[in-house]
Amino acid sequence: MTSFRLNGREVSVETPEDAPLLWAIRDEAGLTGTKFGCGIAQCGACTVHVEGQAVRACVTPVSAVAGLSVVTIEGLDPKGEHPLQKAWVETQAPQCGYCQSGQIMQAAALLAATPHPTDAEIEAAMAGNLCRCMAYVRIKDAIKLAASRGTAA
Ligand code: FES
Ligand code: FES
Repeated sequence: MTSFRLNGREVSVETPEDAPLLWAIRDEAGLTGTKFGCGIAQCGACTVHVEGQAVRACVTPVSAVAGLSVVTIEGLDPKGEHPLQKAWVETQAPQCGYCQSGQIMQAAALLAATPHPTDAEIEAAMAGNLCRCMAYVRIKDAIKLAASRGTAA
């Protein structure tokens, strides 16, 4: 049994301690917004926040988050109205949508640390988040829109 804070709630999961955090999030907690893509930390689809840092849940063992705070796309904003989520809608960033939770979580960690990133900083921060639909231009536009409003959380 591993206990941690998930989207502000204390949870205890029976997922084996060496199993990926992603399993606990999706299969035990039932939060399916976080996606499984590659399973080897190469695509970013599974990105969540652990203590505010963007991490790949597919390669993070459950034991690593014991006692820590984990936030998924479902917990980024109680109403789904994080500045990035609003910008994502306005720019119509997603295509199929599969990569988008990870993209938003990665971008949220970027803006929390660097509220007004340069293009190069955005590109560097987002380089590990792949999009098979090639929505990169709109994703970048959405990040810049959110940042321009100075409302990034
Ligand atoms: S599923 Fe975790 S990085 Fe691809
Ligand atoms: S929107 Fe389809 S994978 Fe990114």
